[in-house]
Amino acid sequence: MEKAKINAAKEALKFIDDGIVLGIGSGTTVEVFLKLLGKKIRDEEIVVYGIPSSHQSHISAVKSGIKVVDLLQYPEPDVCIDGADQVDYNFNCIKGGGAALTREKIVISASKKVVIIIDETKYSSKLDRAIPIEVLPFAYRYVTKRLQEMAKKVELRQAEKKIGPVITDNGNFIVDCLIDIEDVEKLEMEINNIPGVVENGLFPSKLIDLMILGNEGGAKVLK
Ligand code: A5P
Repeated sequence: MEKAKINAAKEALKFIDDGIVLGIGSGTTVEVFLKLLGKKIRDEEIVVYGIPSSHQSHISAVKSGIKVVDLLQYPEPDVCIDGADQVDYNFNCIKGGGAALTREKIVISASKKVVIIIDETKYSSKLDRAIPIEVLPFAYRYVTKRLQEMAKKVELRQAEKKIGPVITDNGNFIVDCLIDIEDVEKLEMEINNIPGVVENGLFPSKLIDLMILGNEGGAKVLK
């Protein structure tokens, strides 16, 4: 799996030029990408400006020598590189396994070009994983009641190495929700229409430009 992530990340390096403003996703695949990018920055003595979508990718970006900036300074990053938890053949994605989905969706939506890097085991004919949903703690009981009307399973994500629920970088809860997905865009909007929902982990294909599928032997770029 690690080799597949490395191969996908290597392919994504081809989108990085000197002076680029980069939207930076989150997760272990992005972490691999940032390590390789750090080497490229040092070897080629280039400058990369980056807008991280989580504390995790902020810390890794700084380690890699990326000049961290924000969306106030650069509201339209040139390229965004991010991972995903599951992707269907039309490029609809489920994201948020690392609870960073809200800022990821903002950075992806703001970027001129969006490249998703995954190992090919995540590429699937159907999206059938639970959808992570970021919820204001104040609205938790109400939102879960509404979600239960449409879902097979609704689960408050629990933290590891901390008691209680996961708290996102924005101070909210994550509810993982197993729902039959027919129309991705419609469902994305329906969930976001519930008062108290901050954002959900359905990323419709219209947000995505390119998919890089890594495997043990190399990587495929799909448009
Ligand atoms: C973070 O919240 C997610 O959206 C990640 O981008 C996604 O979970 C992929 O992570 P991995 O690269 O660790 O599988």
